[in-house]
Amino acid sequence: MEIKSPKVNITEKYICTEYDNYSNRITTENNRLIVTPIRKRYFIRTERKVAKLGVMLVGWGGNNGSTFMAGILANKHYITWHNKNGKQIPNYYGSLTQASTVKIGNNEKNEEVYVPFNSLLPMANPNNLVIGGWDISKMNLADAMDRAQVLDHDLKEKLRPYMKDLVPLPSVYYPEFIAKNQAERADNILAGNKLDNLVWIRNDIRNFKKSNNLEKVIILWTANTERFCDVREGINDTSDNLMKAIFGKDNKEISPSTIFAVASILEGCSYINGSPQNTFVPGVIELAEKHKVFIAGDDLKTGQTKLKSVLVDFLISAGIKPESIVSYNFLGNNDGKNLSEHSQFKSKEITKSNVIQDMVKSNQILYEKDESPDHCVDIKYIPYVGDSKRAIDEYTSRIFLNGHNTMIIHNTCEDSLLAAPLILDLIIFTELLERISFSSYRGHPYNESMNPILGILSYWLKAPLVPKNTPIINSLFKQREAITNLLRICRGLKPENYMGLQYKI
Ligand SMILES: NC(=O)c1ccc[n+]([C@@H]2O[C@H](COP(=O)([O-])OP(=O)(O)OC[C@H]3O[C@@H](n4cnc5c(N)ncnc54)[C@H](O)[C@@H]3O)[C@@H](O)[C@H]2O)c1
Repeated sequence: MEIKSPKVNITEKYICTEYDNYSNRITTENNRLIVTPIRKRYFIRTERKVAKLGVMLVGWGGNNGSTFMAGILANKHYITWHNKNGKQIPNYYGSLTQASTVKIGNNEKNEEVYVPFNSLLPMANPNNLVIGGWDISKMNLADAMDRAQVLDHDLKEKLRPYMKDLVPLPSVYYPEFIAKNQAERADNILAGNKLDNLVWIRNDIRNFKKSNNLEKVIILWTANTERFCDVREGINDTSDNLMKAIFGKDNKEISPSTIFAVASILEGCSYINGSPQNTFVPGVIELAEKHKVFIAGDDLKTGQTKLKSVLVDFLISAGIKPESIVSYNFLGNNDGKNLSEHSQFKSKEITKSNVIQDMVKSNQILYEKDESPDHCVDIKYIPYVGDSKRAIDEYTSRIFLNGHNTMIIHNTCEDSLLAAPLILDLIIFTELLERISFSSYRGHPYNESMNPILGILSYWLKAPLVPKNTPIINSLFKQREAITNLLRICRGLKPENYMGLQYKI
């Protein structure tokens, strides 16, 4: 349904709106907090035409990659299948862009009116995405889907004809970055040095774009978790040093994911890191800023961490003090196998652990300055459970008069069925962000765009990468409101605050 709002100018090409952003600047004077309200007006323009969009996944043949591919094809071709529960119909559940709604106001009967998320602004249709990618394993996507053991047998059989001829491109493989136990699947790898690899990947992107007649390509890493690379002066600390290091010999700390990020940025393609490793070393961030190419990361926020970013927010904002949070994961897929080695687990531990920090800091009644709950995350590789991950969490909190409240959560879920819709959202939302531009003055060119470091995507990511001097927000619902309010203001609607004052006075 078309939405008409007074503060919007819709032409054939653009949706133009203006928006007054109010914020409070806080300064301290003689032990008092001085609040200064600030108003800044933005003129916002959204290009209406959705680009013909290609997606290249690094790790296309993995559990996430093959499940993502299968899910898009099942929806696109409306493939139904049978399992023990009867006939199944494909859907995009778990995707914010495809299966959630946004409140736009209340109707004359005072009912809340919600519209589909993707009806507020023109967004790419997942069924039209052109998908390709790389993998160090040359298994075709039909066999890879079998190897993943995620989908029902009948669905896999019906998808096989669509997937059997899809074969990942050879990829960059530096064995020291992922677990040794991955070596047995590495039969599809590029030869040459790091510079050769960079040139090759850039060529792959160009060829994919050209041969599919695409206007845009977005690259997303959903390959194995790498170990963190050392950030070293002269190697990856600035964009110039990074490029020199790739060209030179002293480049041990340049990871495959860094090669992919650099290739994407140099090709002008947004790059998203769906895994925990520190691909975005300072040199890569600076390169993205220089080339004004979007980057986002790190690590898809699927199950346990997503729930944590809701629960800890709920507890601390209710004045309840979580004192111990213990999280176990039992994982039996290839991701679990890779994470069973110490340095890859360390990368995951970091992204999983940082998620509560901003919420703890927000309440100095509950927590002293440097105090934090005991917070531990462990992952065990249990082959038996396959992709059906078990996440077990124990939250113990101090409540009224020092009583205790313990919550134990047991979450069982096919990991890749949670991840695939997030991959979709990240791609669709990034493409939209590429079409939004800003101006600070009426009538002036819209020559500003979103900051290349897309902190706005943090809803989907465990350890959000944000621009320098920008607060990190982990609370899931604050992250969601940031996204939906951005959509609202681009559509000429006021941000929603749920105060509903008109009903309360
Ligand atoms: N599934 C989830 O819920 C979830 C959530 C958050 C993050 N992640 C992360 O997403 C990533 C993928 O997860 P998965 O379950 O699909 O793992 P997976 O092991 O099934 O798939 C990874 C794929 O990447 C390939 N690969 C490894 N190195 C490569 C390289 N240099 N270039 C190209 N391909 C390469 C592997 O051969 C494999 O096919 C992991 O890092 C995981 O930690 C997954």
